[in-house]
Amino acid sequence: MSTPHNSAEKGEIAKTVLMPGDPLRAEFIAKTYLENPICYNKVRGMLGFTGKYKGIEVSVQGSGMGIPSIGIYSYELFNEYDVDNIIRVGTAGGIADNVNLRDIVIAMGACTNSSYADQYGLPGTYAPTASYELLKSAVNVAENHNCTYHVGNILSSDTFYDDGNSLAAWQKMNVLAVEMESAALYMNAARLSKNALAMFTISDNLMNGQSLSVEERQEGLDDMIKLSLETARLYNIGGGV
Ligand code: HPA
Repeated sequence: MSTPHNSAEKGEIAKTVLMPGDPLRAEFIAKTYLENPICYNKVRGMLGFTGKYKGIEVSVQGSGMGIPSIGIYSYELFNEYDVDNIIRVGTAGGIADNVNLRDIVIAMGACTNSSYADQYGLPGTYAPTASYELLKSAVNVAENHNCTYHVGNILSSDTFYDDGNSLAAWQKMNVLAVEMESAALYMNAARLSKNALAMFTISDNLMNGQSLSVEERQEGLDDMIKLSLETARLYNIGGGV
């Protein structure tokens, strides 16, 4: 069994998947943090690996950039490979005044300017949200590890280079940060009765133009990757699937 985008056989992908945007980061995470990582996908270079973290089977799969890309990969993981939990790990641009470089943002909700929800034919505006159980696990781990973290709304934008200068309007609505994928992940999870969470290292501040150096970015990502893996572990040992 395989899909047009994923050559894995059923059973080769764990029930819990970490999902960075960059496939090379998926490889880095798998080879740095997992025991015996095995690559199950190379189609389009969108690498995916399965290994063990502290005894728990975990996969790491690149999502690519943007809502259409994560829409495809996460849908297939949930629907074709029986994945139950996806934790997106990424970078985001800070919008809120109190969100600083290197802080971790955990997305309770994901606003979007994308039309992804149109496919559901809803007579109103859908509010994509994280799995409460995964969110609770992540907050528990962040508290125990003294992480500087924020929980709240983010924006999943269809544009990286935006002509409209719209971020001030999102900031007024207390949106913490902007990235480009999570709303689709949350909608796929809702539609398929699965669990999703997204967490970010703030790599740049879009209101004042500050950004992390390459080394600072790596350190910040390291903290978040550990947070995501410990979240997966706590969720698994706590009785989640
Ligand atoms: N925009 C969208 N996504 C991002 C950004 C940004 O500025 N920074 C990191 N991910």
